[in-house]
Amino acid sequence: MNHIISPLDLSVEELDKLLDLANDIERNPEKYAHACEGKRLASLFYEPSTRTRLSFEAAMMNLGGKVLGFSDGGSSSATKGESVSDTIRVVSCYADIAAIRHPKEGAALVASMASQIPVINAGDGGHQHPTQTLTDLLTIRSLKGRLDNLTIGLCGDLKFGRTVHSLIDALARYENVNFILISPEELRVPGYIRDGVLQKTNVSYREVVRLEDALAELDLLYMTRVQKERFFNEEDYIRMKDFYILDEAKMKLASPDMLVLHPLPRVNEIAVEVDKDPRAAYFKQAQYGVYVRMALILTLLEIA
Ligand code: CP
Repeated sequence: MNHIISPLDLSVEELDKLLDLANDIERNPEKYAHACEGKRLASLFYEPSTRTRLSFEAAMMNLGGKVLGFSDGGSSSATKGESVSDTIRVVSCYADIAAIRHPKEGAALVASMASQIPVINAGDGGHQHPTQTLTDLLTIRSLKGRLDNLTIGLCGDLKFGRTVHSLIDALARYENVNFILISPEELRVPGYIRDGVLQKTNVSYREVVRLEDALAELDLLYMTRVQKERFFNEEDYIRMKDFYILDEAKMKLASPDMLVLHPLPRVNEIAVEVDKDPRAAYFKQAQYGVYVRMALILTLLEIA
């Protein structure tokens, strides 16, 4: 059984094939409009989501399939004490593939171990978000033409931001990728990423606090919001939440072809005035999320 729990569940070759498929879907959507007829996606969201849940659901509908599930764990039998393992065993009787988002790190892995159908991790706590990474990689490859030879600034909450952890995991496998990690001291990337990925794979990186100290060097700036829901107290969140604000003045320090990405939702970290800058690609990125999730569903169901 194929599951996607981490971005590393796909080899670089498998990833290339998946991104090629996503680009073909983008160009020829009608070719895939009936590919999943008779198939069902279970959308099991124990945590809030707009993009991931709706883009998974749109992806299955675009493929001619159907969707069932819940958007709030509070309306599921988790409230009665049912485990994730039992839930997925039951859902395996109702659907062909499942996307699960859960506040606990490791929940998707636990689900995959009990599942009779492919499980996709749609975000597990502050740990990983592999389908956001597929979205990011498709966006970068489509708009920059490559995934290697890039200097990438990752900015904001690098401690709790699971999209950043997954993106580092995935991009560290490409040639000549250089990371600049831009965060306040309290929100630096966790040790398991710094030591277990960056140092272990000998990827070039440096950590800075000021966004202005990195901007001129970047091919790509990946902004993230401060993850309010992972903070233990409100005071710390309030102190950190506006640490970085990308605005028109800061964009003037960047290269004319630097791409700005953000997994969204945005809070204050990118001023709305930046949206009209041609380098701002975060809404296009959300559109790429549908194509790549369509490609992933087809691949895991062994239809493509
Ligand atoms: N990027 C992302 O995961 O957004 P949602 O939380 O809205 O799904």
